[in-house]
This record gives sequence, C-alpha cells and structure tokens, in this order.
Amino acid sequence: METPPLDLGELRLQPWTDDDVDAVFAGQQDAASRLWAGGGALDTRDDAVALVDRLRSQPNRASWAVVDAASGELLGSVTVHSIDLGQGNAQIGYWTVAAARGRGVAPRAVDAACRWVFGALAVDRIELCHAVENTASGRVAEKAGFRSEGRLRRSFRYGDGAKHDELLWARLSDDPAPDLSTRS
Ligand SMILES: CC(C)(COP(=O)(O)OP(=O)(O)OC[C@H]1O[C@@H](n2cnc3c(N)ncnc32)[C@H](O)[C@@H]1OP(=O)(O)O)[C@@H](O)C(=O)NCCC(=O)NCCS
Repeated sequence: METPPLDLGELRLQPWTDDDVDAVFAGQQDAASRLWAGGGALDTRDDAVALVDRLRSQPNRASWAVVDAASGELLGSVTVHSIDLGQGNAQIGYWTVAAARGRGVAPRAVDAACRWVFGALAVDRIELCHAVENTASGRVAEKAGFRSEGRLRRSFRYGDGAKHDELLWARLSDDPAPDLSTRS
C-alpha cells in the first residue's frame, strides 16, 4: 500500500525506493538483525531487492524507511503488516541499523506508524511479537505505548532455525499515546 512521508523532527518516515536496497542489505548484516528480523536473514543483495519490493507493493502492508531527516541516511524500517480491515487488526515489525541503536529511533518510528494506521485505516488493534530473549524489542514495545498481553509458546522460527517463545503486546487506537518527548 502507498504510504505518505511522516516528519518527526530529526527523523523522517518515507516510502521505500530502489535507492534503499544497498542500505537495507548493509543494515541487516549484524548478528541481532540476522537472528531476530522477522522476514528472514538477507544473504544476498537480491534478497534485499526482493524485501524492498515486498515492503512497498503488498496491499496489506504499510511500510516506511526510517531516515535521518538531515542526512537522509537510512536508520531503520517500520512495517505494519497483516492488515485485516475486516477484523480491524494488524501487526507491526521493525529494525534499526546497529549504529543507530539506543537512541529511541524504533519507539518513535513505531509510535508514528501506529498513529498513521489508526487515523487512516479501519484498524483499531496493532499486535507486536518478539522473542522472549529479544529484550531490546520488548523495550521498544513498552516505550511505544503497547501493553503486554502474554506469552506465545514456541510460536515463531527465528534466524537460528529454532522456534522461540514470544511475548505478545498490543496497542489499541484508544490506548493513551506514549510520551516520547523526553525518553530515548
Ligand atoms: C530492537 C531494536 C529495533 C531496538 O531499536 P532502537 O532504535 O535501538 O530502540 P531504543 O533506542 O529504544 O533501544 C531499545 C533497547 O535496546 C537496547 N540498547 C540500547 N543501546 C543499544 C545498542 N547500542 N545496541 C543494541 N541495543 C541497545 C536497550 O535495551 C534499549 O532499552 P532501554 O531504552 O531500556 O535502554 C534494534 O535493537 C534492532 O533492530 N534489533 C535487531 C532486529 C530486531 O530485533 N527487530 C525486532 C524484531 S521483533
């Protein structure tokens, strides 16, 4: 689905283009990305071409490149996927490049993507899952206004080939918006 650019001060969420392929490929090579990225590890540049193509063309996804507003450098990705307008439900996934981590990029991008989806689409619930061991992702969920809903047993096969238990979180359209102004 087509997504509009979203300006968040020093961050900008923008639609994917072919020019993002090399940065996506480079940004997905670190150990954490290869282990936890939900779409599977990118082994070749062609994998990145296919990923960018999927992100921007599938009708049940709203996806953005997260860039530094000043330099245009790719900092990460946020995707609302599995959008089911009949149920009003969707799921969210995200990653940031290793050099941009620890600065609150993912929580701000996730919050902005949720707010856009709640405003533009007939969706009032967005789910977020991460492996129990991926505590950094849990912090993103908490900071972006999601509430913990429980543990899914052996629910997803990650990059190590093993199925991991996951923690399930959700944000509803009428949940309080997080205050991200003073937190990184
Ligand atoms: C999970 C991830 C998206 C977090 O993005 P981020 O932009 O660094 O988010 P934040 O800055 O809010 O940091 C979140 C947590 O990461 C950890 N963290 C902090 N600095 C870090 C660094 N330099 N490197 C790695 N993790 C760091 C901390 O636990 C932090 O929580 P805290 O705020 O309580 O200290 C990012 O680590 C990532 O892309 N990981 C690999 C892919 C992945 O796990 N995607 C999610 C799949 S469900």
